[in-house]
Amino acid sequence: MSTKKMWGGRFAGVTSGIVERYTASVDFDWRLYAEDIRGSIAHARMLARQGVISAEEASAIAGGLEAIGREIEQGAFVWRPELEDVHMNIESRLSELIGEAGKKLHTGRSRNDQVALGFRLYVAGRLEGWRAGLKRLAAAFTARAGENAQALLPGYTHMQPAQPVSLAHHLLAYAWMFKRDFERIGDCLTRVKVSPLGAAALAGTTYPLDPASVAAEVGFPEIFKNSLDAVSDRDFVVEALSCGALVMAHLSRFCEEIALWANPNFGYLRLPDGFATGSSIMPQKKNPDVAELMRGKTGRVYGALTALLTTIKGLPLSYNRDLQEDKEPFMDAEAAVADSIEIMAAMVAALTFLPERMRQALRAGFLNATELADYLAAKGLPFREAHHAAGAAVALAESKGCGLEDLGIEELRALSPLIQDDVYAVLSYEACVARRTTPGGTSPESVMAQIAELQEWTGA
Ligand code: ARG
Repeated sequence: MSTKKMWGGRFAGVTSGIVERYTASVDFDWRLYAEDIRGSIAHARMLARQGVISAEEASAIAGGLEAIGREIEQGAFVWRPELEDVHMNIESRLSELIGEAGKKLHTGRSRNDQVALGFRLYVAGRLEGWRAGLKRLAAAFTARAGENAQALLPGYTHMQPAQPVSLAHHLLAYAWMFKRDFERIGDCLTRVKVSPLGAAALAGTTYPLDPASVAAEVGFPEIFKNSLDAVSDRDFVVEALSCGALVMAHLSRFCEEIALWANPNFGYLRLPDGFATGSSIMPQKKNPDVAELMRGKTGRVYGALTALLTTIKGLPLSYNRDLQEDKEPFMDAEAAVADSIEIMAAMVAALTFLPERMRQALRAGFLNATELADYLAAKGLPFREAHHAAGAAVALAESKGCGLEDLGIEELRALSPLIQDDVYAVLSYEACVARRTTPGGTSPESVMAQIAELQEWTGA
């Protein structure tokens, strides 16, 4: 139970402690303080330009809000849960600091359009942060690709060894995913950066507001078209979370590969000590916990997306208090996405790749079998028969415990008389990779072209 509410004019009864705690959001939405202050200063200046309040009042408001921003940053601000949210905490302190003028700030505005603007500014800022991180992340993958242009490893389909690819090509696949994420978030931002201020509670207002000038002041290129939509739309958060979900999906795929490749049965990489942990009982263990946790946090981000989609489902127009539930999922997911991007950039830079083990896997998996079939087909054998003869060569090599390239010429010619000495050049893994010269293939030229294009984009 507590003090008189800022909205309490018509209320005689009081709220119980548990209801106050249940409805308050300041425990988490205090994080919007900088955006709330920015939006309020823009609103006050616009009110003055429109002659609704005086220029002196607007500058007193701006000065007071800036002082509050400093109090918050210095940890001197006292957050009061009975004031519900960040908006009323700040507004109440403003009146304490500057008196009458502070009470005019909320003219022509509702918390409904106020929170929508504050949260849009907050989400936009976080998405810009993701984008900067994604560029660094793509640059880190591209740099590792450049260093590992010679290393070859099995490419997989169905998780079975399929054809040789270069390690660079494999790493670049991720760089392109992160570039798409970057672009997707940029597209999403065009819909986040739409100012809802001026929608007021739901219907617009009788004050002569100029919403476009508020938008310009906070750096948003657009304003709302419909006041009902403006106060109730949370599509922008859903879109932001779905962008984050895809970032995590991409990261978690590489996390899975890190865990597999670090397994001694693969042995394609050594985990840096800083990104691994030991076991309390098994002394030999080096576990890829960081990659595993990142894979695990992907579920959290998907959960946030699902939570918000579920919250908005079936909500009648316009603002409903349910919408307060948009912030915690976003804030929780946002931290997971931002941290994961940063940590992966550092982790990929620190991985030790082991090309020798990759090469052993190429031999053991007969990754040049397609080459042998193509070779025979090129010599005139129908592809089906060529496939069959190459399959017989695989069976022979398997029984001898060697690679196709280790079979003697007579052994090979017994399978098909079309085979000649020139077959060994074709069976070389370097040749397999070099011959895949189609655009976007694994050949060195294609890989170099990819690296050049990505470097130009990342500027790294
Ligand atoms: N804390 C609220 C939210 O996050 C602010 C808007 C409340 N508006 C209202 N009329 N109760 O959604």
